[in-house]
Amino acid sequence: MNYRRWLGFLHVILGIFFLVVTTFSHADEITIELRFQPNLENGKLVYEICASCHLPDGWGDKDGTYPQLAGQHQNVLIKQILEIRSGERDNPLMYPFVQERTLGNYQDLADVVAYIATLPMTPEHNKGPWPNFTKEYEKGKKIYKKNCVSCHGKTGEGNNKQYYPRLQGQHYAYVLRQARMVQKGLRKVDPAMLAVVKNLSREDLELVINYVSYLPVPDKDLAPFKDQ
Ligand code: HEC
Ligand code: HEC
Repeated sequence: MNYRRWLGFLHVILGIFFLVVTTFSHADEITIELRFQPNLENGKLVYEICASCHLPDGWGDKDGTYPQLAGQHQNVLIKQILEIRSGERDNPLMYPFVQERTLGNYQDLADVVAYIATLPMTPEHNKGPWPNFTKEYEKGKKIYKKNCVSCHGKTGEGNNKQYYPRLQGQHYAYVLRQARMVQKGLRKVDPAMLAVVKNLSREDLELVINYVSYLPVPDKDLAPFKDQ
């Protein structure tokens, strides 16, 4: 049984990274604090490992196989990468690519995350089947406002400090898959989130995620449309 659990906390203050790593081992708790000045050139090189799946622009795949990384909060990225590295978040496909021997040390991690933060988001992410003005959209909106706004924010903007992922602009198929995994207990999340998701029916979960997929992304975060 694996008692070791890594949690990354990343604070961005004037471009300097403070990475606090906490290890829980039974009752023991050790905290190491590290400082990083991110190096974008190196981050770009490290990102080459990621690009084969998440694509060079960090937009992931519309079919939901690979999430969009562009636009995600840096703390969220770090936390997810460390949890995938430790196996706490099960991701056998990505697992070998985020180990220390492949991705590198904490400096490389800080660098790649800083590089991802420079990537604009896709202007054409995958959306759910029910657009604005349908009754399904309205139902999803109500469920979102009641159950999700408190953490993920009014427009799904998330919260970097609190590790709440940004949901706006993420591919519908990916978000739906994650939400279903959470509901089935296959992905561990904040217990308060689990409680609300567990209480939703399968249909309501689909409706709320549909609504999430239409939450607007601010123009400043988007890449321009590509000419066909
Ligand atoms: C072999 C393919 C592959 C490679 C290489 C890969 N990933 Fe992933 N990554 C995935 C898949 C698949 C998922 C979604 C897993 C799931 O459905 O739970 C994912 C999920 C993630 C997530 C979680 C996103 C979220 O919104 O929760 C982050 C962060 C991430 N990857 C970052 C990276 C970084 C950084 C690299 C490079 C160092 C990388 N990945 C390399 C396949 C890959
Ligand atoms: C108490 C705060 C809280 C509430 C309420 C909450 N969430 Fe979350 N949510 C989180 C946190 C924290 C995470 C990151 C989980 C992790 O560490 O893996 C998360 C992750 C997610 C993810 C995975 C995102 C990704 O990029 O992989 C989805 C999807 C999601 N939430 C949807 C919802 C929906 C839909 C609702 C409302 C029905 C909701 N959440 C309510 C805190 C919350």
